Amino acid sequence: MVERETWATRVGFLVAAIGSAVGLGNLWQFPFKTAANGGAAFVVFYLIAVTLIGFPALLAEFVVGRRTHRNVVGAFEDLGGPAWRVVGAMGMVTGFWILSYYDVVGGWVLRYILGSATGAYFDDPGAYLSAVASGPEAIVAQAAFLAIAVGIVAMGIEDGIEKATKVMVPSIVVLMLALAAWALTLGGAADGLAYFLSPDVGSLVENAGTVIPDAVGQAFFTLSLGMGIMVTYASYVGEDDSLPVDGGVIVVSNTLIGVLAGVVVFPILFAEGIDPATSGPTALFEAMAAAFAALPAGRLLGVVFFGVVALAALSSAISLLEVAVSYATDNTDASRPTLAVGAGVVLFVLGLPSALDTGDPGGFSAWFVWFDALAYNLLLPLSVLLVVVFVGWVLGRDAVAELRAGSTASEGVAAAWLWTVRLVVLLGIVATLALGFESLFLAEDATFFAPF
Ligand code: PFF
Repeated sequence: MVERETWATRVGFLVAAIGSAVGLGNLWQFPFKTAANGGAAFVVFYLIAVTLIGFPALLAEFVVGRRTHRNVVGAFEDLGGPAWRVVGAMGMVTGFWILSYYDVVGGWVLRYILGSATGAYFDDPGAYLSAVASGPEAIVAQAAFLAIAVGIVAMGIEDGIEKATKVMVPSIVVLMLALAAWALTLGGAADGLAYFLSPDVGSLVENAGTVIPDAVGQAFFTLSLGMGIMVTYASYVGEDDSLPVDGGVIVVSNTLIGVLAGVVVFPILFAEGIDPATSGPTALFEAMAAAFAALPAGRLLGVVFFGVVALAALSSAISLLEVAVSYATDNTDASRPTLAVGAGVVLFVLGLPSALDTGDPGGFSAWFVWFDALAYNLLLPLSVLLVVVFVGWVLGRDAVAELRAGSTASEGVAAAWLWTVRLVVLLGIVATLALGFESLFLAEDATFFAPF
């Protein structure tokens, strides 16, 4: 077995984990899920879900990874015995499922950097999206996106992931701040911000049945939970790091960048009179592209905007590839580059249905929506539920000891975390699953049956 690597520095771990958390979930999904769920009302639920459910669950994943210093499957086996391998396996499956369509969207983003530079979509943003979203163009772009991610992971934890994310994450923050400052000068700024930040309590209550599972699913997705990622990243962390502090830094940074994404996207859409609620998943591509086509210096702004999105998507994709590579490294003698390429090829094949599906004219195929709905409503909550049951009810006191190692958290604070995991997080996920189940299988237009 090859000797296990570690992060060179604590900051290295932090930026890598923030890089994983900040991704298409923040920049693409968060704005359109907010729009689909009635604007600011969704943001409120989302913030509650991140704080009460996402943060404690993140710490649960950290505890498993650092206690064992193993890959995600081996970690659960070490702590609970062979039967618990299923939790790690579930995380890997969920992660691959998500990355299989995520990398297709990543490919589109690369295409849009080019399209912005050349102005290719300026005449007809809708037609451009249809042209690049599926078929051979999408496959080539998906392959390019995966190739970059594979290249970074192949170079290792310290020389690949840590070095790359140390450049990527600060660039994302600086460029997003610059874009937000510019977006706030646009004519649509006041309306855009009002839409994003002033909740309509009536619609919140009325639509709770769909808003809650979407908000909780979004909290898991954005924190990269339920995919083995945070277990794996924490397995390279030393005993003297404070997991609660690191977790807090990651959650706060990720949330701020999500909010910043809204501050960028909504003023731009409102400035061009585009209704976010009707643009759906295509908002980032079609609607933002339409806005860049109309705004002064649109080419430059388009390159910067889609460049930021690409950096964010890549720093997330590498974290997921690392889950598989770490598993294989722990179990075989094959070299890291070979394993990284192998994982890339598997993902490429899994992504083909999403990349090939011509779908509706907006470019968003039934398959795509199906993959996404299943991930949000079923796989992610189920996967996190298993982690939470294990950490809360099986590991119990050991989890508390691990959380406290390297931190100044008192016994009382750590016990409060354990009980939050055992009850609040657990019940929150069960409720989410029940509601998600309803919209997937039972509702009149149940998503699960849609593509068939
Ligand atoms: N936290 C990531 C995001 O918000 O985009 C989630 C993610 C998706 C991570 C896909 C990794 C990945 F491959």
